[in-house]
Amino acid sequence: MTDSATAVAHANIALAKYWGKRDEALALPATSSLSLTLDAFHATTTVTPDPDAGEDTGTLDGRPMSDGEVVRVRRFLDLVRSLAGSSLHASVDSVSTVPTGAGLASSASGFAALAGAAAAAYGLDLDPRALSRLARRGSGSAARSVFGGLVVWHAGTDDASSFAEPVPGGEAGGPLDPAMAVVVLDAGPKSISSREAMRRTVETSPFFPSWTESTEVDVALMLDAVRAGDLPTLGALAESNALRMHATMLGARPPVRYWTAHTVGVLDQVQALRADGLPCWATIDAGPNVKVLCAGRDLPAVAEALSEGGTRRVVTARPGPDLRVTAGGAA
Ligand code: DP6
Repeated sequence: MTDSATAVAHANIALAKYWGKRDEALALPATSSLSLTLDAFHATTTVTPDPDAGEDTGTLDGRPMSDGEVVRVRRFLDLVRSLAGSSLHASVDSVSTVPTGAGLASSASGFAALAGAAAAAYGLDLDPRALSRLARRGSGSAARSVFGGLVVWHAGTDDASSFAEPVPGGEAGGPLDPAMAVVVLDAGPKSISSREAMRRTVETSPFFPSWTESTEVDVALMLDAVRAGDLPTLGALAESNALRMHATMLGARPPVRYWTAHTVGVLDQVQALRADGLPCWATIDAGPNVKVLCAGRDLPAVAEALSEGGTRRVVTARPGPDLRVTAGGAA
């Protein structure tokens, strides 16, 4: 009945952040969010159901997955199996161009690719919206990596209403022409997972309720800016939203702080570039690295300035494509 299937999904970086769940079991977020899918980073995942396998197994970049990684993959495959009415275990082999666990959105592309490959391998016929809902159950931000370009994830109120969809206007070369320079300060794994850190924030930060309120407003204002082709407004809102996300986690007990002195240094640099007439705006996720939004035409100049004469690794990215299943799937 089944064959192996392979899918490719690209990483996304949020401009309005997802930080906190209203329902852990269903992975329903506390707020809607808005992101840009990037062409520079992707995960390629193959799922091979095997009637002879006694358990699920997996490799990541050619090495066996850690216990924690296998547990997450197994839980996800259990969901796929329950939807498909299958009891077959599978091997999952994933190769990623995103450093894992460094706040560079590895779980977004990883779980979106897993959702696409597993759905195809187990013979589920899912449209992109249903794939986005499925990917959400693996990692919230993965719901957005099902789509290319600019993407909005509607928080929703239940499983059916919490999905991502593309936002017109995010194309390379369009009026907005969004692009990103990713400043890689530290590609090592982070000290606390975003899952654990957002849980702590929800439970202990007194700033969390105002974070959710203001993020819903930010998403609406950002969608207006996208419709108007207004990158400066979108960028200013994105930078402010990221700082508010970090403010809410700094308010947790014990506090969650992903920034290093280098992170602050890049924030200073971005501010200085703007003052010098080069429009760009910073955003930061669950790690020290800084992603800098700018227009595609300004990307070479922004990347050059941030690389500090080539001493710092800066990856340039433009809007990336939709999730695609590249091979195999149930007949
Ligand atoms: C800071 O999607 O990794 O990147 O749903 O618990 O797997 P889980 O969290 P995850 O969190 C991403 C957080 C963020 C912001 C964002 O991508 O919106």
